[in-house]
Amino acid sequence: MKFNGAGIIQLPKKLDRRGNLSVIEGINHIPFKIARTYWIYDVPGGEVRGGHAYRQNQEFIVALSGSFDVILDDGKERKTYSLNRSYYGLYVPRGMWRQMQNFSTNALALVLASIKFNPEDYIYDYALFKELANEARI
Ligand code: TYD
Repeated sequence: MKFNGAGIIQLPKKLDRRGNLSVIEGINHIPFKIARTYWIYDVPGGEVRGGHAYRQNQEFIVALSGSFDVILDDGKERKTYSLNRSYYGLYVPRGMWRQMQNFSTNALALVLASIKFNPEDYIYDYALFKELANEARI
């Protein structure tokens, strides 16, 4: 599958003069059941988050406020996604190297995850990630 199926997913958008509303249902709008929700905020200018891959965890990342870039790498190709609206997000399949950067002031990154927090799911060594990815072992 191209780029492991990673990409932008548009979310439902209920336009209303009282204020707009968007929604995410696990399985329905994103391709996994949501096991965990976390958010990243108060990021100082120039900081980089992530810089790792997950063996099993899948994620969906939304810029609820402000903007930031997510860089994805499948071991062969690298793509940058700019997130800056709350009505779409980036699906990050398992086994992708991922990094978040260029956070604007007041950026708020919502991350929905498919598994509970497990430090053993992380790969922090890019060379190891590339080796596993290119041998289709991740
Ligand atoms: P980490 O995943 O390394 O952050 P990032 O990839 O954005 O740089 O997590 C930072 C710290 O937070 C680390 O000590 C682990 C902890 N943490 C949890 O306890 N639970 C979680 O769900 C997450 C994502 C992180």
